[in-house]
Amino acid sequence: MSREIQERIAELSGELHQHIYRYHVLNEPVITDAEYDRLFADLQDLETRHPEYALPDSPTQRVGSDLSGDFPKLRHAAPILSLSNAFDADDLANWQERNLRLLPAGTQLRYVLQPKLDGLAIVITYEDGVLTRAATRGNGEFGDDVTANVKTIRSVPLRIPVNRDQGGAPARLVVRGEILFHKNSFVELNREQQALGLPAYVNARNTASGSLKQKDSRATAKRKLTAYIYAIVEGDGVVLSSEWETLQFLRDMGFNVIRDAALCKDLADVTKRLPGWEAKRDDLPFEIDGLVLKVDNLAYADELGVVGKDPRGAIAYKFPAEEASTKLLGVTIGVGRTGKVTPTAQLEPVFIGGVTVSNASLHNYEQVAALDIRQGDRVVVKRSGDVIPYVIGPVPGARDGSETAILPPEACPFCDTRLIQPAGAVDWFCANPQCPERVMRTLEFFVSRGALDIEGMGPQTIATLIEKKLIKDEADIFYLEAAPLLALEGFAEKKVENLLASIEAAKARPFEQVLTSLGIDGVGATVAGLLTDSFASMQDLLDTSKQIRVARESFAHTVAPLLREAGADDDESARVIFRLRHPLTELAPRYQDAADLRDRLARLLKPLPVSAEQLPALAQSLADLIAASRPLHSIEGLGPVLVANIVDWFSDEHHQNILAKMQAAGVNMRAAERVVSGDGLSGQTFVLTGAMSVPRGEVKALVEAHGGKVTGSVSKKTSYVVAGDAPGSKVDKAIKSNVPVISEAELRALIAGEQVDAAGTANLL
Ligand code: IVH
Repeated sequence: MSREIQERIAELSGELHQHIYRYHVLNEPVITDAEYDRLFADLQDLETRHPEYALPDSPTQRVGSDLSGDFPKLRHAAPILSLSNAFDADDLANWQERNLRLLPAGTQLRYVLQPKLDGLAIVITYEDGVLTRAATRGNGEFGDDVTANVKTIRSVPLRIPVNRDQGGAPARLVVRGEILFHKNSFVELNREQQALGLPAYVNARNTASGSLKQKDSRATAKRKLTAYIYAIVEGDGVVLSSEWETLQFLRDMGFNVIRDAALCKDLADVTKRLPGWEAKRDDLPFEIDGLVLKVDNLAYADELGVVGKDPRGAIAYKFPAEEASTKLLGVTIGVGRTGKVTPTAQLEPVFIGGVTVSNASLHNYEQVAALDIRQGDRVVVKRSGDVIPYVIGPVPGARDGSETAILPPEACPFCDTRLIQPAGAVDWFCANPQCPERVMRTLEFFVSRGALDIEGMGPQTIATLIEKKLIKDEADIFYLEAAPLLALEGFAEKKVENLLASIEAAKARPFEQVLTSLGIDGVGATVAGLLTDSFASMQDLLDTSKQIRVARESFAHTVAPLLREAGADDDESARVIFRLRHPLTELAPRYQDAADLRDRLARLLKPLPVSAEQLPALAQSLADLIAASRPLHSIEGLGPVLVANIVDWFSDEHHQNILAKMQAAGVNMRAAERVVSGDGLSGQTFVLTGAMSVPRGEVKALVEAHGGKVTGSVSKKTSYVVAGDAPGSKVDKAIKSNVPVISEAELRALIAGEQVDAAGTANLL
């Protein structure tokens, strides 16, 4: 047995050395970070239990370092420690048991559980409340001096406490935290890259690290980095007795502190929460790679001390690996209802996070090219939560030369029409609305539950109807007649009767359901509901879209001479040109409420050769576009890209024909008359949060029936936030924004015409 262990330790050390060399020297890793972590943890575990077999050159002897040659070094106030890893509840139980053995008998440990942010560690020093230095973790003893760069990050206070009511600042406070990209900022960054014709960034953490280590802090300032602070390294005169208090103290000082930390009364309480966290992971605004568990009582944590470079009082609980590498065997091509062509990777089956994965999304061909993924490559696949598994990238180090490029097909594999790539789009499309695959997908969606909900119209039936040429598009469904159906194999009288009856019933579906069934990209039930709140009929939507299209064309016409002259010589001009080319998404929403449109436009256009004479016409043209698009842009919850999709959809002649045919067949295209009970709430906007005594939809209807409006998020325009049981963060936001918070009972009192004071209590006198 001991021989085996000794051999296994040697084997793991050898393997890890190879991987470290491939990663750091050759830049050609052959396994994923998660796979590496696993091997490393296995070795660490064996070495802890059998230190006598640990090799002197074991990879576990290395202390991680992010030092680079470009920055002066700063010595940390105290060693910047790391964390040991746990992978399951047993590991946590063992960890607690080891700790309890080091503490007085009968000790009860409480824990603080919080997300483990996947960013890079930062150590920031404040002297008399002023930020004086910031350093990367480096090798734990020295770090790179990135003070100037860190100062550009808005969530890092330059002076503490941010809010003076919190008293003074410690003479010296050294804090530790993590710098990262919020998921949406990373997506935005990649969108900008794409607009400039530059390759996309793949890994948010590496990009955050690269962004922080810019020699010119102006380059860092352009990146939307965020910092979260989670620990105190040193604090003069700061007396705190628990981790939980520490978080509160940091929050009081004005630091950005993770909101989702939980104080757990014991380890059972912690393990109970673990599965919930794995599910919640995808909903967080940032990437996490696990959780951090810390002993709450700082005196105990202190007593437990440090082993190697890890404090005993804290541990990282790593989520099951979500990534694995496998071989890409081939690529299949799908065509969706919008005509979008999607490549899917066929993989050698691989087990990831408890599931066998044999195909994964490749997103689009642009991404395939940007990542240089080749047929036959070993690829890294990620599977996380409910998201369809996708290929993160190739493992170039594993190539043997037999790999081949993956290119978009020239023609649609289903109808042989030449594929097109619209300007600025990353996707390729089959533009043939009669493509049998597109029609099939469109119809499947059209009749599905939540859409028109037509019973008896399964994929098989649809396929038969298309094949027999009884339908060519979704509107044809409403013109089906019994005789030709009865002539089909397997269509008995009863079946035909039922089918026709459910088609008849579908004509009377509520307007929002009809709108959903059209399959406009991004318009599901929720968005359809938002649209039908503002538009009384399909015709209104068609009219508004037409006006927007006309205004957009006229704007394009007005800027054309300018665009002909302007060159995208630098980033700034390229950005402005991009905005001028996409006024509906890039300009109209931004300048909606601008009183000084001409000045704003003048400022925007500075990098371009615009003459003073051109400006008024441009401003007028933009004002027209803003006015035309206001009915859509002013709907809260409808982003600019979605608005553009809607406009494009309604502008398409094929879609217009379908709508006309549906209308002629008697399909409902009008919103139901609103029940109006009063106008006591007219002009007021409400946000509902938490559980109410009746379903929230009913409360919404009640508010609307009295002339009020209900929106999804708190803003300056919100009149009241109505809080039910267990309300969400909207209440915090309301308090911060000085928006009154009232209860459901108080809302009902308001409706009844009673006064409700600002503090939120109904004045019943
Ligand atoms: S506490 C003394 N809390 O994870 C230990 N670390 O794998 C102090 N990390 O080096 C660390 N989120 O850079 C702590 N909420 C969190 C964290 C966190 C991410 C990083 C940190 C650390 C690494 C350990």
